[in-house]
Parts: sequence; C-alpha cells; structure tokens
Amino acid sequence: MEFLCIVYLRDEKMQVFDNYVVYGFSMSNREIDKLRIPQHIAVIMDGNGRWAIQKGKSRLFGHKNGVKAVRETIEAAAETGVKFLTLYAFSTENWNRPKAEVSGLMELLIITINKEIKTLMKNNIALKAIGDLRSLPQRCHKELMRAVEMTAANDRMTLILALSYSSRWEIVQAANNLAGDVKKGKVIAGEIDENMFSRYLCASEFPDPELLIRTSGEHRVSNFLLWQIAYSELYFTDKLWPDFRKDDFLAAIADYQKRERRFGKTSEQLVNAEDEI
Ligand code: FPP
Repeated sequence: MEFLCIVYLRDEKMQVFDNYVVYGFSMSNREIDKLRIPQHIAVIMDGNGRWAIQKGKSRLFGHKNGVKAVRETIEAAAETGVKFLTLYAFSTENWNRPKAEVSGLMELLIITINKEIKTLMKNNIALKAIGDLRSLPQRCHKELMRAVEMTAANDRMTLILALSYSSRWEIVQAANNLAGDVKKGKVIAGEIDENMFSRYLCASEFPDPELLIRTSGEHRVSNFLLWQIAYSELYFTDKLWPDFRKDDFLAAIADYQKRERRFGKTSEQLVNAEDEI
C-alpha cells in the first residue's frame, strides 16, 4: 500500500487526524472540523535560506529541501478538502537575488513541475499560475504551461503557483487593463466598483483565501495577495519552510477554526444571524 491513513470519526462533525501516517511521517493528534475547512489557503513559504545557512549549506540547498514541504502541504491540503492552495514560489522582488540563486530556482521549478505532474494527475489536482508569467525564462514558461494544460480538467483541488508575482504589480496591471477598457468604451469610469475591479486581477477566477500562512517567524505579508487577503486570517509559525510538515498545516487550520470571523460586524450580530438560520 502506498500510504496508510487511519481517520477516526468521533462524531459526524469532528474528524480527528490521528495516527495518520503518510509516506512515513507521523502526525500528532489534531482535531479539525471538517465542515469548516477553509476553501482557499495561501502560503508564504519563507526561511529556505536561513535553514540552509544554519546547516552551513548554500541557499539553493534550502530551496531544494523546500520542495519536500511543498509536497507535504499539497497532500495535506488535498486530504483535508481544501479546494484552492496558493503557494508564493517566486516574487517580483526575488529577481533581484544573486543570478545563480535565481537560475537555480527556475531550474528547480522546471524539475519539480515535471516530476510532480504524474502525482497531480493521479490525485486529480489542477495546476494554475498567477504573476507576470511572460517574464519567466522561456523553458520554465513552456513547461509550466504544459503542466497547466495537462491538469486543466482536474477538479479535486487547484494548486496555484504565484510566480514572478507581486500584489502591487497585479493591481497596477489591473488598473492599466481597466483604463484600456474605459478608453475603448467597454467600461464607464464612474461605474467601477470592487467587484468589477477584482475581475481584472490575475487571481480573479479564485475565491479570496480565508487563511494565509507564513513560515519562518516573519510577521509580514510581503506584497502577496494584498487585495485578496483583506479579510483573511493570518497565521504565523516560527518553523522554517523546509521543516514545515502536514502536522504544521493542520495546526494552522485548527488555529483558524478557533477564530471568530466578523467581517466588520459585532459578535452579537453573528450569534443572532446563527439563531435565525
Ligand atoms: C523563501 O525563502 C523561498 C523562496 C523565495 C522560494 C520558494 C521555493 C521553493 C520552496 C522551491 C520550489 C517551489 C515549487 C512550488 C516548485 P528565502 O530564500 O527567502 O529564505 P530566507 O528568508 O531564510 O532567506
């Protein structure tokens, strides 16, 4: 058997991910309400460089080891029923890193996509990408698009890679395209509202993430999905990305489930609304 998965159901609502062994990694007890799994989780994978430096290795060694955490996160998301998972794999600002690191990351991306495509197909996961994709090296762009096309019909979960992405870039390109449509007479300037504007963002086909996870102990959002995380719950962990495992992902969901999401309303209003149902 490829993996062993024992799930105990305590009552119909609670799913306990207990004695859960996947590819040899054991998880501690985590209680997750399977009816309140975020449908979209976004992740800022941070700390590869520090992880490698702590071990006296090159930054690229950290990125290579980050792939294992990527794999675990995708598996955990699919298994818990998350519908959209966005990973911040390369930011617009990352182009300013040393040339060797940038080309190493691009190579790693190609290798990982090609290696994982079979697993994505087997697990019915669609791959999508957001960002200034035309700025990627030609081969990287080509392999990425091939994987996107191959997995397009998969519908268990959508994995979105943010590549050469930054939120300010996304918002500015949306404003430019919108201004173009105003000029063409397709849009009336005074009638632009939030809904219309958001349709010009490159992440427009996905719902906003309910949960944003960032690893490595940094407490910032680094130009990632700024529009879309307006009401997201933020979860920070000190774990460096290469050490991030399924149990850490479940811990983030468990923490999210303890939060009260008010969207500007009061607690009393939320309770009253529940009573009315
Ligand atoms: C941030 O760590 C991480 C990145 C810029 C790259 C993330 C890439 C991977 C995990 C590998 C490939 C991913 C996919 C999806 C195939 P950092 O270098 O900023 O770490 P530091 O803050 O410790 O320097």
